[in-house]
Amino acid sequence: MTSEQTAQTAPDKKRRIFVTTALPYANGKFHLGHMMEYIQADIWVRFQRMRGHEVHWVCADDTHGAPIMIAAEKAGKSPQDFVAEIAATRKEYLDGFHLSIDNWHSTDSPENVELAQDIYRKLRDFVRDGKPASFIERRSVEQFYDPVKGMFLPDRYIKGECPKCGTKDQYGDSCENCSAVYAPTDLKNPYSVLSGATPEMRSSEHFFFRLSDPQCVEFLREWTEGLDRHGKKRLQSEIIAKTKEWLGEDGKMGDWDISRDAPYFGIPIPDAQGKYFYVWLDAPVGYLASLKNYFDSGKANANGESRSFSEFLKADDTEQIHFIGKDIVYFHVLFWPAMLKFAGYKTPDSVNVHGFITVGGEKMSKS
Ligand code: 2FM
Ligand code: ZN
Repeated sequence: MTSEQTAQTAPDKKRRIFVTTALPYANGKFHLGHMMEYIQADIWVRFQRMRGHEVHWVCADDTHGAPIMIAAEKAGKSPQDFVAEIAATRKEYLDGFHLSIDNWHSTDSPENVELAQDIYRKLRDFVRDGKPASFIERRSVEQFYDPVKGMFLPDRYIKGECPKCGTKDQYGDSCENCSAVYAPTDLKNPYSVLSGATPEMRSSEHFFFRLSDPQCVEFLREWTEGLDRHGKKRLQSEIIAKTKEWLGEDGKMGDWDISRDAPYFGIPIPDAQGKYFYVWLDAPVGYLASLKNYFDSGKANANGESRSFSEFLKADDTEQIHFIGKDIVYFHVLFWPAMLKFAGYKTPDSVNVHGFITVGGEKMSKS
C-alpha cells in the first residue's frame, strides 16, 4: 500500500487503545485454546496498528488460587517456584506464534498487590451523598474444613456419595452419573480429596462485594446494554441477552464472596489477618498490573512520550478492550466493570467473546 492510499483510508483521529487477552492459569503450559484467542486478538491489534492507531497489548500469568497452591505442594515446590517454571515456558510459544503482545507479567507481582488492594480499599470506603456506603460487607459463612490439612476446602476438593443416586466418589457440586446438582453439604459420607479425612463444618468470616446494591445493578444494566465511544454495542448480542437474564427482574444478582482463608496463595486483604482475595478478584486486576509494569519499565513510551501508567489509564481517550472466551463472561461483564466503576477506575470499552474449538460439535479436549 502506498502512503497516499494509507492517507486516504486512515481515520481522522488516532485512537489510544490497550488490549488484553485472558490470563492463562500458571499451572499448565499453553494449549490450542489460548493460541486461538491470542491469534484472534493479534489480527485485530495488527489491523488497528496498520490504521495508525496506538495499541498496547498486555497479558500475564494468572498465578493465585487453591488449585495452584495444591499443585505446587504436590510437586514439592513453593507456589512462587512452581509458577515461575511455567512462566519460563511462555516466551517460546509467544515468539513462535509471532504474537505481537507488548508485555507479559504476573498476577503474583507488586503491581497487582498495589492495584488489587487499592481497588478493594476504594470499594470498602465508598461514600455516597456524603455518607458511608461501603460496597464491602462481612458475613459468616459455614464451609467444610479439612482438620488434617488445616484448611477450608473448595468445592472441587470434597467428594462423597451422590445424595440422589448414591454413586460414590462424586464431586461436591454435581453427579457425573445422574447429573444431579447439589451443594457439597448434601453429599453422603463426604471426604477431603486432599487428605481423605471427613470434613467438619466450620464457620468463618467472609468478605462480600455487594453486587446486589441497586446502584450497582442499575450501572450494570446500562453498561452491558450500552454503546462504546464509537457508537457500537460494547457486547455482542448473544452476550447482552445473557446479561439480561442475569440482571433481569427474575435474575438473582447475589453478592460476591471475594475472600478466602489462609492457607491460600493470593493477595492479603488489607487490615484482615489471615484473609486473602479470591483469585477471581485479583486476576483481572492483573491486566492493569501488566499495563503498569509495561509503563513503569519504560517499554510503553518507546516512541519518546513520557506518560505514566496512571496518566495513560485516566486519559479519557484511552480505550480498554478485552478478548475472552465464553466461559468467563460472567466475571468480565459483571464483576469486573462493577469493581472498576465503584473504585473510580476506567471501565472497559468492550469485551469481545469467542467460543470454543469444537470437533464434531463437542468441545475439543485440551490434552
Ligand atoms: O479461565 C481462566 O483461564 C482464567 N485464568 C482467566 C483469567 S482472565 C483474567 F480475568 F485474568
Ligand atoms: Zn447421582
